Amino acid sequence: MSKQILIIGGAGFIGSNLALKLIEKGHQITILDNLHPQIHGANPEQTSPLYQAIKNKVRFIHHDVANDHPTIWKDVLKNQQIIVHFAAETGTGQSMYQIKRYNQTNVMGTSNLLEALMNFEHQVEKVVVASSRAIYGEGKYFSPTINQFVYPKHRNEQDLLNGDFECKCPITNQEVELCATDEMSFVQPNSIYGLNKYEQEKAIEITCSALNIPYVALRYQNVYGVGQSLSNPYTGILAVFSNRIREKQPILIFEDGKESRDFVYIDDVVQATLLSIENNEANNKAINVGTGKATSVIEVAQELIKNYEIEVDIQITQKFRKGDIRHNFADISLLKSSLNFEPKISFQEGIKKYVDWVKTQPLVENNFEQSLKEMQAKGLYK
Ligand SMILES: NC(=O)c1ccc[n+]([C@@H]2O[C@H](COP(=O)([O-])OP(=O)(O)OC[C@H]3O[C@@H](n4cnc5c(N)ncnc54)[C@H](O)[C@@H]3O)[C@@H](O)[C@H]2O)c1
Repeated sequence: MSKQILIIGGAGFIGSNLALKLIEKGHQITILDNLHPQIHGANPEQTSPLYQAIKNKVRFIHHDVANDHPTIWKDVLKNQQIIVHFAAETGTGQSMYQIKRYNQTNVMGTSNLLEALMNFEHQVEKVVVASSRAIYGEGKYFSPTINQFVYPKHRNEQDLLNGDFECKCPITNQEVELCATDEMSFVQPNSIYGLNKYEQEKAIEITCSALNIPYVALRYQNVYGVGQSLSNPYTGILAVFSNRIREKQPILIFEDGKESRDFVYIDDVVQATLLSIENNEANNKAINVGTGKATSVIEVAQELIKNYEIEVDIQITQKFRKGDIRHNFADISLLKSSLNFEPKISFQEGIKKYVDWVKTQPLVENNFEQSLKEMQAKGLYK
């Protein structure tokens, strides 16, 4: 059945792909987005393929989520049945020194949505929010010396300076074994971004429960794929490494390169999100969306080099950024049981699709070195 669906932040990477999929299924889509220049460039009509892909297919409201303009919010909510909340500042590193800006969009923006839901008439049946693996911080480990699961906090700066990058048992300071992080794991964000994502998730849970509106929080792992911004230095390592390879420059790797993430392809993320909208089994749950597999940063670099067929050196810098975690990969049992879904696209397949697409794109400056300089000046990159 066709529904009226509002996607806040719907011009972005995940939102625009979700919008196109929902349109294909016959839904009516409204997008509220401020076309943030960090994602969409200075002139989105020309500089944002993501915006161009959706602009004539949806009702588009150009608005900053942090602006509480009552008439706009009242109008935005009118006749909407589903709300998907994606609008966010998303750079983990940047969140560590642009704290007010991150809180403004991520916390105040969500507050504006929730106050509008409280104060204005609407027919909203469900709210879906994009949460993040960042809420877990270092995630779940097993400590063999005490035979129990543990959740390490921040890594010790002196250890990092000594090139000792692995997490330690928070009780014995001994070695620990990495585990898949499930949804019952401790929430222990290491960055302002991670904290913001948890605030978004919790604020939506609390308010929607009070209003008897079902909600779903999707804790996405590292999402990548065709169409992802190549110019935003905070998008992630695929864009940064791709630029270096295409410029025939060595790839500079933080720490010892053995740090790992769970990379999940955009099509799988869109499918999981779609199912969470359609399927009531997801209601009132926080669900990990990942592949359940960890891939190290060195493996990422090697896979990219192989696919670009350009030989560049991989340089292990031993440098580190505060706010970064060591490893994280998702336990996806709940994704499988509640949405009957398992990601289909392997890392090798996804990287091939991504590289084939990047090769068709012009080489753009992504200011990654500049972002490191900013972090270094504040003692956040060592
Ligand atoms: N991509 C990932 O790997 C990943 C991982 C975990 C969680 N998430 C979450 O998923 C959501 C979508 O991520 P994405 O990768 O599509 O990011 P994105 O940056 O591509 O999209 C975010 C969109 O929000 C918009 N936006 C930003 N600030 C806004 C504001 N103040 N008012 C209105 N709109 C604003 C941007 O213009 C953009 O279109 C975000 O909430 C993000 O935190 C993403």
